[in-house]
Amino acid sequence: MAASPARRRTVGVILAGGVGSRLGSTVPKQLVEVAGRPVIEHTIAAFEASPDIDEIVVVMAPGHLDAVAAIVAAAGFRKVAAVVPGGVLRSDSTRLALEWLGDADADVLLHDGARPLVSERILHDCVLALGRHEAVAVVVTTADTVVAVDGDVITEVPDRRGLRRCQTPQGFRLSTIRRAYELAAQDPAFVATDDAGAVARYLPDVPIHVVEGAEDNIKVTTPLDLMIVDALARRTD
Ligand code: C5P
Repeated sequence: MAASPARRRTVGVILAGGVGSRLGSTVPKQLVEVAGRPVIEHTIAAFEASPDIDEIVVVMAPGHLDAVAAIVAAAGFRKVAAVVPGGVLRSDSTRLALEWLGDADADVLLHDGARPLVSERILHDCVLALGRHEAVAVVVTTADTVVAVDGDVITEVPDRRGLRRCQTPQGFRLSTIRRAYELAAQDPAFVATDDAGAVARYLPDVPIHVVEGAEDNIKVTTPLDLMIVDALARRTD
């Protein structure tokens, strides 16, 4: 469905600034090919095809910006406004994207470049939810029981019915995520593996609304993930 013309501009930020050491490959995982195209090309294509996304910023591992520029040119992606170098940690890459965006008024969807199978439905639901909420996060239920451990001993077994696994995108009013990162910058103990974590920690009064993700919105982390994503990307249904 086409987006309403009255909605705020939505920027998709594709975070591909990591080097993917867990994959054991010499090239960053976002440049490894699945179903005949680099992972990052699938991811950008999903955002490019979404009528809900107005502009795309790719944050790429330093030293590999030219590779992304070449992919963008060859594929004819028209929404990519910039390819900017990433930082040491994922949160540094987010911060650099926010700096690039400046003080514009927009909604932003921050997405792992390593999740190439994000669907148009998920992007649409995030943008729709951002019309009513300042912060949204894509989650799925967990089939496995999740436990807390201290060393090699289980300390807690939370009821899994109340637990979710976080995927991306995570979406925010730009002013909200900017504020969370400003506060994080003043905290020497700041560590975050995702952006909703930064909002939850530094802006605890901002509710983070959940949007249903999908089991196939996999993050390519291990060689097994690559095999699964490759097979899923070749689906013809
Ligand atoms: O390391 P992890 O798998 O959690 O990374 C999730 C996403 O964040 C990946 O797409 C990765 O490229 C990106 N990332 C980044 N900058 C970093 C580290 C990770 O943009 N310094």
